Amino acid sequence: MCGIIGYIGQKEANSILIDGLKRMEYRGYDSAGVAVLDNGTIFSLKRIGKVAELARAQTKFPHRGPIGIGHTRWATHGNVSERNAHPHLSDDGRFAVVHNGIIENYLQIKAFLIERNYRFASDTDTEILANLIDYHYQKAPHLHFAEIVRKTLLHVEGTYGIAIISKIFADELVVARKGSPLLIGLGEGENIVASDAAAVARYTKRVVYLNDGEVASVRSDNFSITTLHENAVDVVCHELDWEIHDTDLADYPHYMLKEIFEQPSVIENAMRGRFTADGCSAKFGGISLIPRELRMVDRLLFCACGTAYHACLVGKYLIEKYARIPVDVEYASEFRYRNAPPQRNTLVFVVSQSGETIDTLAALHEAKRRGYMVLGITNVVGSTIARATDAGIYQHAGLEMGVASTKAFTSQITILSMLALLFARIRDMDAIVGLQYVQALKSLPIIASDVLKLSEQIRIIAEKYYGYERFLFLGRQAMYPIALEGALKLKEIAYVHAEAFPTAEMKHGPIALISEETICIFIATQNELLDKTMNNIQEVKARGGKVIAIVNNNCIAWEIFCDEVLIIPEVHPGINPITSVIPLQFLAYYIGILRGCDVDRPRNLAKSVTVE
Ligand code: F6R
Repeated sequence: MCGIIGYIGQKEANSILIDGLKRMEYRGYDSAGVAVLDNGTIFSLKRIGKVAELARAQTKFPHRGPIGIGHTRWATHGNVSERNAHPHLSDDGRFAVVHNGIIENYLQIKAFLIERNYRFASDTDTEILANLIDYHYQKAPHLHFAEIVRKTLLHVEGTYGIAIISKIFADELVVARKGSPLLIGLGEGENIVASDAAAVARYTKRVVYLNDGEVASVRSDNFSITTLHENAVDVVCHELDWEIHDTDLADYPHYMLKEIFEQPSVIENAMRGRFTADGCSAKFGGISLIPRELRMVDRLLFCACGTAYHACLVGKYLIEKYARIPVDVEYASEFRYRNAPPQRNTLVFVVSQSGETIDTLAALHEAKRRGYMVLGITNVVGSTIARATDAGIYQHAGLEMGVASTKAFTSQITILSMLALLFARIRDMDAIVGLQYVQALKSLPIIASDVLKLSEQIRIIAEKYYGYERFLFLGRQAMYPIALEGALKLKEIAYVHAEAFPTAEMKHGPIALISEETICIFIATQNELLDKTMNNIQEVKARGGKVIAIVNNNCIAWEIFCDEVLIIPEVHPGINPITSVIPLQFLAYYIGILRGCDVDRPRNLAKSVTVE
C-alpha cells in the first residue's frame, strides 16, 4: 500500500526520495509527493498519478536540501488529488508529515484543532498529525523533536507509520510506528527511513526495523529509538538478503514475467541446505522444535490471505496425504474475528510473502493470545510477521516486485511440500520413499525450467482466447488450489471474470455457465481420476464450451476432446502442484498484456495490504 521514504545526510535529498519512491511503485499507489527542508523552509511537491509525473515536475523544484520525506499514497480518506497527497504540512509550515495507516479518532482531533484556529487544506486523516504535532510544539517549545512526537501520538488512535521533518529541528527526522511497517537503513554519514526495504537496498543492506509503539530520532550519523512511553529499546540490526538487481527489470518487459522466469532458482533457494545428510528428509534451521515435539502435533492450522492462502491449501493436500496429520486452512481475515474452538496439540503456521499483511498479522496475534505456538513462512527477512512468530522459515525468493505473486507462491509450495516430507518422515514414511521424495524435489528446478519453455505456446493460446470474458478453472485434489490460483491470477492481471472449482463440482451448478462463450481450463496433471476428468471435459464440449487442458502425456483423447493441450513433464505428486501452476501464470500474464492491462501494477491492488 502507501510507501514512505525519508533521507537525512550530506546529499541532495530530493533525488534519493524520488528513487526510493520509484522502487516502491510496485506496492500500488495513486499519487506521490516529497517535502524537502531547504534553507530553513519546507518545500513540497505533489502529483497525482505516477512517480514519473513527480520526477518530471522536479525541473521546477530547485530545492537541494539534505533532509526530506516522500510518499506514495493509496487513497483511504479523501479522493485522489494533489491536495490529499502527502506530505502534509502543519498550518504554518513548521512540520511536514508522511503517513501510512488510518487515524481512527481524526475527526475528534480535527474538531479540537479547529477550535484552536488550525486550518486544514485536505480531507485526509494525516493532516491532523501535522497540526497536532505543531500544537504540542507550541505548548512546549523547549522539548526535543522526538518528545513532541511522542506526546502527540499518545492522543492518536489507529495505525500509523510516519516520518516527520521540521524547520525547527533542521538536523533531525523523526519516525514512529504502530501497525504499519517502518525501518531505518543505516548508511555512512546518512540514514534513510522507509516503509519497505526495497527503497533503501540500493544504499545499504543494514537495516533496523521499528516495532509497534516505537519512536526514532534519526540524524545523519546516528539514531536513537525509544518506546512511546520513553522506555529504552534493544536495537537489532538486520542484514538484507536481496540484491539491488532484484529491483531492476533486466531484459524483461515486466516484473511479472521476470519473476515467472526466476522460479527455477527461487525453488532452488527455498531448498538450499534444507535436506538431511542421509538425503531422505527435510530440515529447517528456523524451526526449533525437535522431532519428539513435532510428533506430538495432532493438527496443523494454516492462516494466510490471497495467493498465500492457496499455497496453504496445497500444503493441506500434501501434508494430509504424506504425513497423515489433519490440516485446517483459514483465511486470516476470518480467523482473527472468528471464535474458533480451541484444539489440543495444534501448531499454527502463518504464511505471508511480505510478512506485513495486516489480517495475517492479526491472525498470528489471535493464535498467540490463545496460547498456540505460531510458526511463520515469509519471504521478507525481519518483516513484522517474521519477528512476531515463535520461529519460522524464510523463503529466500528475493524481492517480489510484481503485485501479483508468482515466484513467492512456488517458493511457498516448495517449502510446504518439504514440510509434508519432514512431518511424514517423523511418522509414516520410510527412508526409501523419503529418498524418492527428496530426489523429486531436487529435480524440480530443472523440470520447472522445462515448463518455462511453454511460454511461447501459451502466448499463442492467449492470442486466441484473450477476448473471452468467462473462464472456469477446474482441478481435483491438490490441483484444486492450483485452479484457484490460476483464476485469481487471471482476475487480478487481466480483469477477466474467472472462477475455480474442484472439477467434479462443475456438475453441481457451474455447468449452467458453460456456453460457447466459456473457456474451461482443466488442470489434469494428477494421475488419479483422469477418466473422470475426461468425462467432465466431454460435458463441457457437449455444451459448446472451449477446453484448455494441462496434462502430463499426449494421449489421443486429449487431442480429440480439447481445444488446446499443454503438456508438462510427469513428476512426483509431492511436487506436481509446483510445475502445474507455471502455465497458468503465463496464461494470465499474456492475456493481461493482450488486453492492455498494466500487469505489474493492476488497478486497485496493492502489493502488501497493511490496512483492513
Ligand atoms: C495475489 C497476491 C495477494 C497476496 C495476499 C497476501 O497475487 O499477491 O493475494 O497473496 O495479499 O499477501 P502476503 O503473502 O504478502 O501476506
